[in-house]
Amino acid sequence: MAKAVRKAIFPVAGLGTRFLPATKAVPKEMLPVVDRPLIDYAVSEARAAGIDTFIFITGPRNEPMLRAHFELVASLEAELNAKDPKLVTMLREMEPPRGSVHCVHQDRPLGLGHAVNCARDLIGDEPFAVLLPDDLMDCNPPALAQMVALHGKTGGNVVAVEEVPRELTRRYGVLDVGVDDGHMAEVKGLVEKPEPEKAPSTLTVIGRYVLLPEVFEHLALRQRGAGGEIQLTDAMAKMIGHAPFHGLRCGGHRYDCGSRVGFVEAQLAFAMKDDAMRDRLRDYMRRTSAE
Ligand code: G1P
Repeated sequence: MAKAVRKAIFPVAGLGTRFLPATKAVPKEMLPVVDRPLIDYAVSEARAAGIDTFIFITGPRNEPMLRAHFELVASLEAELNAKDPKLVTMLREMEPPRGSVHCVHQDRPLGLGHAVNCARDLIGDEPFAVLLPDDLMDCNPPALAQMVALHGKTGGNVVAVEEVPRELTRRYGVLDVGVDDGHMAEVKGLVEKPEPEKAPSTLTVIGRYVLLPEVFEHLALRQRGAGGEIQLTDAMAKMIGHAPFHGLRCGGHRYDCGSRVGFVEAQLAFAMKDDAMRDRLRDYMRRTSAE
């Protein structure tokens, strides 16, 4: 029987240069989509998948803000309680249990593989999840829960995947696809950021992974790949053939909040889900698109 997936890694050490000057003082994962910071969506998705240990791979600036966000400080609690105790209840419900949040400092920006490897000692010898908060997933059931369920059946590695136009393969990890039933695709090979003419398919990895701890053996070699970085994709590729490995199309929608347009799309989509805003926004968009 596959071991339960209890721990998740959130790499958040990036500088967020595409969002400057917003990210000069505020780390990218703290930028809000409507009224919740990006990181909050990823943590909620992880909790819904049964994760009970949250490991943030941080840069020098973001740890204090993450801690302040996930651990309600007594002074704020007292102020909110005086105003409206329901606010405290709401925040408490969203908070991961005490002691479940860990921050590991990534001393140098050497790539996603390097970031994941920073959590090695905290993960130990069990399967784990990786969530890239830039990829905001809106799926039902939530994406990671679907992936954990598949891991429970296969006992192997699972990555979330989606099709992209061929000219975009150079932004993603790309699958060489084996048996594919349209929902679940067997991974025969993986290439990080191939040029369109060299990409083995147009099925790409998006920011959700359920991985076996063996990946750390490959990451420990610190081999450089695309862009001179230590790539998670390269370490994952070395596990192909040794354990089941699948790409899962999770349905729903992925918002690429690493890009400005994807981030704005996410704002609109999540605002339109809100009963208090929908009608007014729809009117506004109708009026402005007719102008
Ligand atoms: C990372 C991964 C890439 C994956 C992508 C998904 O790239 O290296 O394989 O397809 O996330 O968002 P990055 O966006 O960090 O360049």
